[in-house]
Amino acid sequence: MTIKDRKRLDDYYSQKARKENYPARSVWKLEEFDAKYRLFRAGQRVLDLGCAPGSWSLYAGKAVGPGGLVLGLDVAPPEASGFPGNVIIRGADLLTDGPDLAAGYGPFQVILSDMAPRTSGRKEIDQAKSLGLCSMALGWAKALSAPGGDFLFKIFQSPDGDGFLKEVGSYYEKQVRLKPRATRKGSQEIFVLNRGFRGET
Ligand SMILES: C[S@@+](CC[C@H](N)C(=O)[O-])C[C@H]1O[C@@H](n2cnc3c(N)ncnc32)[C@H](O)[C@@H]1O
Repeated sequence: MTIKDRKRLDDYYSQKARKENYPARSVWKLEEFDAKYRLFRAGQRVLDLGCAPGSWSLYAGKAVGPGGLVLGLDVAPPEASGFPGNVIIRGADLLTDGPDLAAGYGPFQVILSDMAPRTSGRKEIDQAKSLGLCSMALGWAKALSAPGGDFLFKIFQSPDGDGFLKEVGSYYEKQVRLKPRATRKGSQEIFVLNRGFRGET
């Protein structure tokens, strides 16, 4: 794909998000995963870590419907007033807060983490920060997943990350690595879908 084609595709995803009232284009990544792997079902409880500005929470809220619930957490939470009744938004810093904060809303059938660190431009540092966030997210997933639940998270790829992915995979029946179409060119991010939580073995 040429740079011009890539730019056109990026603009397309951003415009489509604005038109459909999603605050971020990242919603199309989740939509792509959902179309391929059927992530959500009516009535489920979903935990969305690093939810701001709120596209994934909005999408998941629609997908699980009024009988389901989405708890979206972020260190810089979006204004909660724009969300439907089944989407609850709270402030939380995953690096300092523990999963007890969400225990009253769980267990969760689906745990999402699109968390990303503030990038420094230095690849190794950003990768280490991303890995740190993912390790915290795994702690939350282990504490709050329903049996058989799913855990989808974003990570910046790195050699250290491979060992971590192996560890995560040991808690689930199945693991798939994903690179969505809406990922910006040059991005180091991949998504990892872990299905069928079986607890600590
Ligand atoms: C790419 S954005 C998420 C976009 C979101 N999925 C959406 O669709 O609107 C990454 C988010 O991770 C959050 N984040 C980064 N570090 C965090 C931390 N320590 N605790 C909680 N959230 C964090 C950021 O504040 C940011 O809002």
